[in-house]
Amino acid sequence: MIHPLEQLRDEALREIDSATDEQALEAARVKYLGRSGSISAWGEQMKTLPKEEKPVVGKLLNEVRTAVTAAIESRAQQFRAQKESGALAKIDISLPGPPHELGTLHPLTQMWDRSIEIFRRMGFALADGPDVEDEWHCFDALNTPPEHPARNEQDTFYLPDGRLLRTHTSTVQIRTMQAAPPPIRVIAPGAAYRRDELDSTHSPQFHQIEGLYVDENVSVTDLKGALEFFMRELFGPGTAVQFRPHYFPFTEPSLEVYVKSKALKGGEQWIEVAGSGVVHPAVFEAVNKARSDKAYDPEKWSGYAFGLGMDRLAMILFAIPDIRLFGQNDLRFLKQFA
Ligand code: DAH
Repeated sequence: MIHPLEQLRDEALREIDSATDEQALEAARVKYLGRSGSISAWGEQMKTLPKEEKPVVGKLLNEVRTAVTAAIESRAQQFRAQKESGALAKIDISLPGPPHELGTLHPLTQMWDRSIEIFRRMGFALADGPDVEDEWHCFDALNTPPEHPARNEQDTFYLPDGRLLRTHTSTVQIRTMQAAPPPIRVIAPGAAYRRDELDSTHSPQFHQIEGLYVDENVSVTDLKGALEFFMRELFGPGTAVQFRPHYFPFTEPSLEVYVKSKALKGGEQWIEVAGSGVVHPAVFEAVNKARSDKAYDPEKWSGYAFGLGMDRLAMILFAIPDIRLFGQNDLRFLKQFA
């Protein structure tokens, strides 16, 4: 014989199974398991049963309650899954994501990266200095007296407080030597500024890599060896390098550096790419004075320095006809260096 509790269970399970939404399911839950639900009512009834029936009916009641609770939970779970898959159905996960354009490094940045990598192999460390400088670091300390034409207001950007935009990265030579005693072997990539009219080969802002090597017995042959190695690494083994005597206040002797290579734009032409020289003793003395010591004793230490024109080098290497292209942010130009 079927116990009424079992009948109640079967009825509840059918109702739960045929519930079509969450509200119907909740109504079924209240009807059977709610505080005054029919299964709960059996709990009350238990008290009135004869003693010997209690364990059997009690056990059955527990089983019925467990079965109905489990059925409700599993039906609720089905509704939740249906909801989720309904939401996902609107998204086509097989579609490709929105396109993600890869950027490229600016040709000048690429030029810098290549150059720095070559100098690193020669043992040069990176140094840095501010673009906004004082006259002392830009000129005085570099043996460039007040009457020197480079200091002309027409040549340099001066700020109202007397500071200026550095006209070369040579300022970093001074800052590096102020900060540490010899030996020194650094390069300093950065921007430099001059009051030049903007045309295809001149720009008021341009870019350099400064180099400084100070040690015992450094001579002009070390300088030539280092720069020749650099140019050949950069432009290829067939590159010819020429040094022409020149004048810079902060070096003696001073040399301009020219390169020529069939592989390059310009072909058989010598192209000027750098200024360089052996550090002038007056520069060491200016640094000593600022440091108030004799760390850079010109009798003991010697050095070479150079300033490479990055824009020029990049124009040669990448056959870029106009320096203005570097600053125009024209994607048609920039994308060619991917
Ligand atoms: N500062 C010079 C310029 O901008 C380039 C230069 C020449 C740098 C000789 C040096 C050097 O370090 O030794 O024209």
